[in-house]
Amino acid sequence: MSGHRRSPQPAIALPTPRTADPATLVIFGATGDLAKRKLLPALYHLAVRHALPDAFTVVAVGRTPMTDEAYRDKVSADLDRFAEGPRDEARWAWFARRLHYVCAPLEDAESARALATRLEAIDAGHAGPVGRVYYFATPPSAMAGIVQRLGSEGLLVDTAERPRRVIVEKPFGYDLASARTLNHELGQVLAERQIYRIDHYLGKETVQNLMAFRFANGIFEPIWNRRYVDHVQITVAETVGVEGRGGYYDEAGALRDMVQNHLFQLLALTAMEPPISFRADDVRDERVRVLHAIHLCTPDEVRQSVVRGQYTAGASHNTAVPGYREEPKVPPASTTETFVALKLMIENWRWAEVPFYLRTGKRLPARVSEIAVQFRRAPLKLFKGAQAGTLDPNLLVVRIQPDEGISLRFQAKIPGAPVRLGNVDMAFNYTDYFAAAPANGYETLLYDCMNGDPTLFHRADMVEAGWDVVAPILEVVAASPDALLHEYPAGRWGPAEADALIARDGRAWRNSE
Ligand code: BG6
Repeated sequence: MSGHRRSPQPAIALPTPRTADPATLVIFGATGDLAKRKLLPALYHLAVRHALPDAFTVVAVGRTPMTDEAYRDKVSADLDRFAEGPRDEARWAWFARRLHYVCAPLEDAESARALATRLEAIDAGHAGPVGRVYYFATPPSAMAGIVQRLGSEGLLVDTAERPRRVIVEKPFGYDLASARTLNHELGQVLAERQIYRIDHYLGKETVQNLMAFRFANGIFEPIWNRRYVDHVQITVAETVGVEGRGGYYDEAGALRDMVQNHLFQLLALTAMEPPISFRADDVRDERVRVLHAIHLCTPDEVRQSVVRGQYTAGASHNTAVPGYREEPKVPPASTTETFVALKLMIENWRWAEVPFYLRTGKRLPARVSEIAVQFRRAPLKLFKGAQAGTLDPNLLVVRIQPDEGISLRFQAKIPGAPVRLGNVDMAFNYTDYFAAAPANGYETLLYDCMNGDPTLFHRADMVEAGWDVVAPILEVVAASPDALLHEYPAGRWGPAEADALIARDGRAWRNSE
């Protein structure tokens, strides 16, 4: 039995946002992949929405010598590939005028001074005070050195009128110890309020909507607990492979690249207690509490509740694709995981004994990110003899991408005699109600940072809490690099052992139902 959907009303137009506070955005690593694919398109999307102030400038910092004109041409070509929607020529002209390029390797004080001079000249061109955001789209190893240099050039002096903030990209550290070191190094030059650790999943509309869904509606919160919920599944599946990022990825793997940050944040938003207000620290306090409540596994428990996978040659969208070990810059005997499935338990009153199954991987059959909350099964007795032996439990699915929306599965009677039951869905699709603005998740976060709102960013303690949870897994793997590792052909839902992991509890992943 399938759900019937209708478009309930015309889409609600998006309100015009207030423009962000005046800011100069300095991007380190400006000629890299992230700037090209995500940051510049996101800024351009904001320009199209009229969300950027007149006093807005991008200062792109890179190692390759380039004029402003050449950089603008490069951005224009990149936007053709990575921005959404047709080009708005007037807004592009507005945006392009604000793009500047500085070649400054920042390995010496001299190039830091050259950057400082350029920034002062830009500030002097504005009538009022302008804030500054430094975006580190650089390898983590380069970051601490650049921050020190900015500090010694006086570029990080933060005042209410002229805020100085830094955005730090993931990976934030390599493990608990290195994350602590990095937090400490940043803390020597910056106050915590200046540090914005970014996780682009928190910029996705549907992710933010989770809080509205849970806390602005009276009917879900009372059943959002161990009494009614059987288990939760969080899936972030990708069809892509490592896309030329083999060098980075092989050092990271899915645990560090996705679980410690994106998946844990989805889990935190799903499981957190209602915050006492939407002030940044009230929300972040609740998110971090959930991470602290996750049971830390012993090595034996790790072996029971974690499966790592690595894709071998197979097919993606009906096209043959190579295995992970054949990807460029990946060592032929690599033991890095491209897939992880794990079971976590949250030890608090709301969630005790409710398993959270998390799963993410590359080269899976579909691109889908979703949170599925499965409720306890209704008693079957009443429907005995009504072919209801396989009565499915209610399931609430928050779909993050693609096709953003929320659906609730329940049972209905199939018309006619005898009495038979089937699954139906009540479904809400974002696009039925709201006009969608072009976005890749970075828009909200860049905008929030310019306005000094850290709600959707990680705090130092959150990053460390995330590493704390994965530490026992990393230890098992460090002791034996191919521990828990199983192959899966590209185009399959991970290794069979991942199915066995959840099947041991008498449950199944949603795709294999
Ligand atoms: C990034 C990871 O943080 O998120 C990538 O480094 C991954 O490996 C990407 O592909 C997924 O993001 P999205 O927004 O495409 O789901």
